[in-house]
Amino acid sequence: MRVLITGICGFAGSALAENLLARREGAGITGIDNLMRPGSETNRRRLKGLGVEFFHGDIRQASDFEDLPAADWVIDAAANPSVLAGVQGGFSSRRLFEHNLASLVNVLEYCKRHSAGLVLLSSSRVYSIPALASLPLREQGNAFVLDCSAPLPAGVSAEGVGRDFSTQPPVSLYGSLKLASEAVALEYGEAFGFPVWIDRCGVLAGAGQFGTPDQGIFSYWINAHLRRRPLRYIGFDGNGKQVRDAMHPSDLAALIDAQFRSARRGGQRIYTAGGGARNACSLAALTAWCDDRFGPHAPASDPRPRTYDVPWLIMDSREAMAEFGWKLETPLETIFEQIAVHAESNPGWLSISGL
Ligand SMILES: NC(=O)c1ccc[n+]([C@@H]2O[C@H](COP(=O)([O-])OP(=O)(O)OC[C@H]3O[C@@H](n4cnc5c(N)ncnc54)[C@H](O)[C@@H]3O)[C@@H](O)[C@H]2O)c1
Repeated sequence: MRVLITGICGFAGSALAENLLARREGAGITGIDNLMRPGSETNRRRLKGLGVEFFHGDIRQASDFEDLPAADWVIDAAANPSVLAGVQGGFSSRRLFEHNLASLVNVLEYCKRHSAGLVLLSSSRVYSIPALASLPLREQGNAFVLDCSAPLPAGVSAEGVGRDFSTQPPVSLYGSLKLASEAVALEYGEAFGFPVWIDRCGVLAGAGQFGTPDQGIFSYWINAHLRRRPLRYIGFDGNGKQVRDAMHPSDLAALIDAQFRSARRGGQRIYTAGGGARNACSLAALTAWCDDRFGPHAPASDPRPRTYDVPWLIMDSREAMAEFGWKLETPLETIFEQIAVHAESNPGWLSISGL
């Protein structure tokens, strides 16, 4: 089996390459990356050592696909993954559009040319921000939990947010480009007869993830706590009760591998996938874990709201589990511990990540 991974030097792309090679003896992996993500260049040597064929190129350029060998499957993991991209942080909205949507036509034309299937890494951020922001929540210890005694909108339960939850705008520029990518990818697959799987992933986390305050939050927080960098609880009264779930990329690789093996061509193509209720954690709980691991270091409180932020977002993966016989193997504590060990042995990780 031959796989092309776009964004292969990124956190997800490189981890998926490594995990798929471990799962599939004899698989050939090719990757393309323009190395725009600070830190991504650090993965080049590791990938080479794994036997991955690397092309330095930009998926916005059709001609950068000309030298790529044919593949059976493409995993599209090239994007700016920050929900704030396009509105903050110096990455323009036009640039975001080009990277996160316009470039998709080159990926899809490649799939069409080679009859390659596509796995698109979509996001939990395709869901409606007002609908997420108005979910009934209560406080339990140092975290928000869903108040299931109150009426709930379609597509959400204590297990998390599922595929049927509202995608009504606003969803963020980032989320809207993912949503548009999903629609275009499905149409291409339908029109030209190649399989498309779409995984709406919650937060991915693990050792070697680049970490900044707006992307790679678990890696950023653990590295910053260890290095005694200033940390802030932003929004939601400034006490860190906002909750996310974390999924290890090896678990995502297992899901994608099951999708590669699936012979089903019709029916549902979109799945939500994430750490779920079992792997959910508030920032305050993460701080408590770090305090135990590295000694106390208190974040400051900054109650001002942050653009596009929501208080509680975890993914309900039950459909993917039922369909693909998939289950999450990596508990939250293992993810945290792996990040901590990596942080201890990489003292400059935050500056490598661009901070
Ligand atoms: N990390 C998460 O928590 C998360 C959650 C849901 C979805 N996703 C999605 O998964 C995918 C991978 O995310 P990640 O966390 O690995 O991000 P990342 O920033 O670590 O990796 C993305 C890689 O893509 C490359 N890239 C960006 N634009 C490119 C272009 N035009 N041409 C070639 N290479 C390009 C970057 O250099 C980088 O190496 C993204 O599509 C992201 O939206 C990530």
